[in-house]
Amino acid sequence: MSNSYKIAVIAGDGTGPEVIKEGCKVLDVAAGKFDIKLEKISYDLGGERYLKTGEVLPDSVLEELRTFDAIYLGAIGHVDVKPGILEKGLLLKLRFDLDQYINLRPVKLYPSVDCPIKNKGPQEIDYTVVRENSGGLYTGIGGLSRAGTKDEVAVQQMMYTYDQVERCLRYAFDYTRRYGKKARGIGDKNTLALVGKSNVLTYMYELWNRVFAEVGAEYPDVTREYYHVDATCLYMVACPEIFDVVVTENMFGDIITDLAAITQGGLGVAAGGNINPDGVSMFEPIGGTAPMWTGKNAINPLAAIGAGAMMLTALGEEQAGRAIETAIAQTTPKMKSQMANEMGYSTTEVGDLVAAAL
Ligand code: IPM
Ligand code: MN
Repeated sequence: MSNSYKIAVIAGDGTGPEVIKEGCKVLDVAAGKFDIKLEKISYDLGGERYLKTGEVLPDSVLEELRTFDAIYLGAIGHVDVKPGILEKGLLLKLRFDLDQYINLRPVKLYPSVDCPIKNKGPQEIDYTVVRENSGGLYTGIGGLSRAGTKDEVAVQQMMYTYDQVERCLRYAFDYTRRYGKKARGIGDKNTLALVGKSNVLTYMYELWNRVFAEVGAEYPDVTREYYHVDATCLYMVACPEIFDVVVTENMFGDIITDLAAITQGGLGVAAGGNINPDGVSMFEPIGGTAPMWTGKNAINPLAAIGAGAMMLTALGEEQAGRAIETAIAQTTPKMKSQMANEMGYSTTEVGDLVAAAL
């Protein structure tokens, strides 16, 4: 009997539906090839629905989403909706309410993809950022006092509990053991680097560093390193090859993964997963809605296709996930660029190329 999975598809706004369509095309080919059943159900969440009905994420829909094996998300954000409403009400709410406490962001430069860093290629740019996805500044604790006066005070607090730090680091150590450079046969050790700012955020990184050492003691096969976040930005450009798996708190992870994305060819190729290892995970291209390219069949679908590959891997279909990644690697050399409208192919044609390679 074939393995069967229920997937909720939230194509969302802007170019989301166009890239998700290509992702589904490739997923269907993979499913046929590897004898997997994918039952996809679409949800029309996003800006259009909000503008029509005032609903962002009804409780009943959230409850339904809990019953799926995974969520496949396009992009959220709408030019006619005030920034924050959809991001907080939909994307962040899903991450929090489904307790997707890991944001997994592989940084992989595919063959022949233009890299803005001189003399760096696929060998040098091949690491993963494990971003904590449930706490820190994203917790939303804070407030304004005496707003509108010269005595105004704004507070936004970075908050972590021991449990949040521990579960994140444990995931990162497990991931490194399984997918580090030694495990993948491209290095002589598996290395996990904690990224922080222990010289300034002394309380926060006292906690992170202590738990890093504590949990790390259970993983003698994983080499531990520590870098400050500012130095990390420098190294990601100057010597990205030093990285294997990187783990960091939420906001630092948000920032460094945009930098990482441009080193792997831009947001058109960068995929990510919001992971609850014991629950419902959600996979998305990290690029956003690209309103300028909406409806033009010009946006790059590779990030969405890559997110689909990550989804299959997370569901336990590693062979199928890897096959899609290989098909992407066979497609990038045929493309002129990874930039929207400059690919030498349309969105649907790139989807066809990956499907054919598969
Ligand atoms: C990301 C995005 C989100 C974040 C925004 C849209 C809320 O930038 O997924 O990296 O900050 O996490
Ligand atoms: Mn971001």
